[in-house]
Amino acid sequence: MEGSPEINRQEPMPDAFSIRPLRPSDASAYRDLRLEALQSNPEAFGSSYEEEAPLPLETIEARIPTSNPNAIFGAFAGDVLVGMAGFAVYDRLKARHKGVMWGVYVKPEWRKQRVGKALVRRVIDHASRHVIMLEAAVGLANESARRTYHGLGFRPYGIERKAIRIGDVFHDEELLSMDLPQPTGA
Ligand SMILES: CC(C)(COP(=O)(O)OP(=O)(O)OC[C@H]1O[C@@H](n2cnc3c(N)ncnc32)[C@H](O)[C@@H]1OP(=O)(O)O)[C@@H](O)C(=O)NCCC(=O)NCCS
Repeated sequence: MEGSPEINRQEPMPDAFSIRPLRPSDASAYRDLRLEALQSNPEAFGSSYEEEAPLPLETIEARIPTSNPNAIFGAFAGDVLVGMAGFAVYDRLKARHKGVMWGVYVKPEWRKQRVGKALVRRVIDHASRHVIMLEAAVGLANESARRTYHGLGFRPYGIERKAIRIGDVFHDEELLSMDLPQPTGA
C-alpha cells in the first residue's frame, strides 16, 4: 500500500489511563507484565516464559531503552502498568529506515477499552519521527490484535507459515507493514 497510513489521530484517549515510555525504574512492573503476557498468550510472542522468567531484574532493566529511537510504551492506570508496546529500529545501516512494533499486550481486565489502540497509535506516532516503514507480525488466528493493527493502518504483505512453535503446535503469522511519512530532517 502506497501513501500515508489511514491513522485516526483524532480519537481522544480515555482519561482512565495514560501512556508514557517505560523507565529503568519500571523494571519490576515491566517484568511482571511481560511474564504474564508470555504465560497467558504464548502464541502471541516470539519469546517465551521459560526463556525470560529466570532472567535477573538487572537484565530486564537493561532491556528498557533509555534514549531514542527505541522505546517501550506503558499504559498506566494510576501508577499500575496495565499494557505495553515496544518499538525498535533495525540496527543495520541499510535497514535503519525500518522499525518494528513488538510485545503488544493489555491486561485482560483492561481489554476492549481502547488501551491497545492507544498504545499502537503511540508507537506509530513515535515511529513516524524515526523511520519510514513500520513492521509488525501477528498471529493469523489473533482476531483482536489483527483488528487493532488493521484499523490503524497496518497492511498485510505476507504470511510466515509455522512462525511459532509451541510444543507440537505451529502457528502462522501475518506479516504487516505501514508506510510512514518521511521524518522531518531525514
Ligand atoms: C490485542 C490486544 C492488545 C488488544 O487490546 P485492547 O485494549 O483490547 O484493544 P482495543 O480495546 O483498543 O480494541 C482495538 C480493536 O480491536 C477490537 N477487539 C478487541 N478485542 C477483540 C476481540 N476479542 N475480538 C475481536 N475484536 C476485538 C476492538 O473492537 C477494536 O476494534 P474497533 O476499534 O474496530 O472497535 C489485547 O487483546 C491483548 O493484549 N491480547 C493478548 C496479547 C496479544 O495478542 N498481543 C498482540 C501480539 S501481536
